[in-house]
Amino acid sequence: MTRSIAIACDHGGIDLKGILKADLTTAGFEVHDFGTDSNDSVDYPDFGYKMADAIRNKVVDRGVLICGSGIGISMAANRYPDVRAAPVHDVTSARLGREHNDANVVCFGARLIGNELARECLQVFLDTRFEGGRHIQRVEKLSNPPV
Ligand code: RB5
Repeated sequence: MTRSIAIACDHGGIDLKGILKADLTTAGFEVHDFGTDSNDSVDYPDFGYKMADAIRNKVVDRGVLICGSGIGISMAANRYPDVRAAPVHDVTSARLGREHNDANVVCFGARLIGNELARECLQVFLDTRFEGGRHIQRVEKLSNPPV
């Protein structure tokens, strides 16, 4: 089971980051928090890249990203071949992101999702296994786009 996890957000995700970080800590995870830590306006790619770097360097194998919509910060993280970041809005997308896409990063839009739903989605994301089988070849192609 994953015991080490990275988390990062922009200024739109500060409150939700605190809530999810507390849940992860309570559950026994070693949480690597890459900020941001204030309400000052920042650029979401900077924080998506910090988290993605931790995946690339194998410091962690799972991550959580939060921005206002969950879109920009997932775009940033997905520029790294080792990252499969899934923007998640409900428990079904959290489950399918793991079962079919072997997502290693879950992304939330703090301005779109309620705190309780985000907490539940994170739990589902962490508890759900990749199905493998026909999905393996597809997931491998994500790391090897044609040049
Ligand atoms: C910041 O205002 C906002 O644009 C950002 O959090 C995110 O929603 C971008 O995708």
